[in-house]
Amino acid sequence: MKKNRKIVLASRPTAWVEEGNFRLEECDIPQSGPGQVLVRNRWLSLDPYMRGRISDAPSYAKPVAIGEVMMGGTAGEVIESKHPGFAPGDAVVGALGWQLFGVADGGALRKVDAGTIPLSAWLGPVGMPGVTAWVGLHDICAPKSGETVVVTAASGAVGSVVGQLAKLGGARAVGIAGGPDKCRYVVEELGFDACIDYKAGNLRADLKAAAPDGIDCLFENVGGELFDTLLARMKPFSRIALCGLISQYNSAPWPLKNIGAVLINRIRMQGFIVTDDLSRWPPALRELGPLVASGRLKYRESIADGLAAAPAALISLLKGGNFGKQLVRL
Ligand SMILES: NC(=O)c1ccc[n+]([C@@H]2O[C@H](COP(=O)([O-])OP(=O)(O)OC[C@H]3O[C@@H](n4cnc5c(N)ncnc54)[C@H](OP(=O)(O)O)[C@@H]3O)[C@@H](O)[C@H]2O)c1
Repeated sequence: MKKNRKIVLASRPTAWVEEGNFRLEECDIPQSGPGQVLVRNRWLSLDPYMRGRISDAPSYAKPVAIGEVMMGGTAGEVIESKHPGFAPGDAVVGALGWQLFGVADGGALRKVDAGTIPLSAWLGPVGMPGVTAWVGLHDICAPKSGETVVVTAASGAVGSVVGQLAKLGGARAVGIAGGPDKCRYVVEELGFDACIDYKAGNLRADLKAAAPDGIDCLFENVGGELFDTLLARMKPFSRIALCGLISQYNSAPWPLKNIGAVLINRIRMQGFIVTDDLSRWPPALRELGPLVASGRLKYRESIADGLAAAPAALISLLKGGNFGKQLVRL
């Protein structure tokens, strides 16, 4: 009989995540109960927030328990359904975690059209990262035509969508990314107006050249010294959508030197979590779906092969080793 394979949290990291913090286990395929659906996961999404879930520091969500299957977004196909809304063969997305097979209540799964849009993209530009970009840009930054939007981690799952949506709305999009290859992609493939390689060592001068009048909207994904430098170039009455602080997920917080800019320039800054208001998901997906299906919104994926590759791929993502949405093909 076929078996399930899953990765559980073996221990909590104290600083950098290590592969030894995870353990691969074999077990029986779970049985579905009334109202439930058994899914064969085909794609696993790896995301920076996972660093928070394997720590027991206070946060907005409950941590994964030791010995529990590692949590994560998944896309796959229905094998068996005891829910009237699903049939074998349906393509679904859910949060079934780091495992080949999973069972969920029908209400916790979403049927998707894997014919028009590839199944993996439902975890990227038309999934949680895409909705994050849409919500932060529209509901917090709200750029007007002609304004300058700066986004950090610009080649990544969230950042790549932010800049493209900003351009579609008539704003100027300036990306910040690590290295010439990522920056070339951001400008040449994604169509941003400019991209600054923050690793090149000329951040202040490059920023002045790319945003000579200052920044109207900052979509912040990174934090730390980079964010501190950007704060000093914000315009009066500008907005910051504080989406993530990936540079600090494995290290001590960076003490901000330029926080005074928030007061002097009356900057409005708001942190947000994509699941804060679930009523924003349908309008976001209604806009993102056709853009991705028609090829007008581009995306790129970093794919690791096989469940066993997930821990190393997560560690690489947390070090900036990914180039585009990080996935595991199961
Ligand atoms: N608030 C929410 O609801 C929400 C939802 C989803 C994601 N997020 C946040 O959005 C941000 C982007 O997430 P994503 O899924 O789109 O990831 P991603 O951009 O696809 O990958 C992470 C990227 O962060 C960049 N980075 C910059 N400084 C880094 C550092 N010191 N260490 C490691 N990486 C660094 C790297 O790109 P470079 O090589 O260009 O530096 C890396 O490729 C993260 O902060 C994440 O936590 C928030």
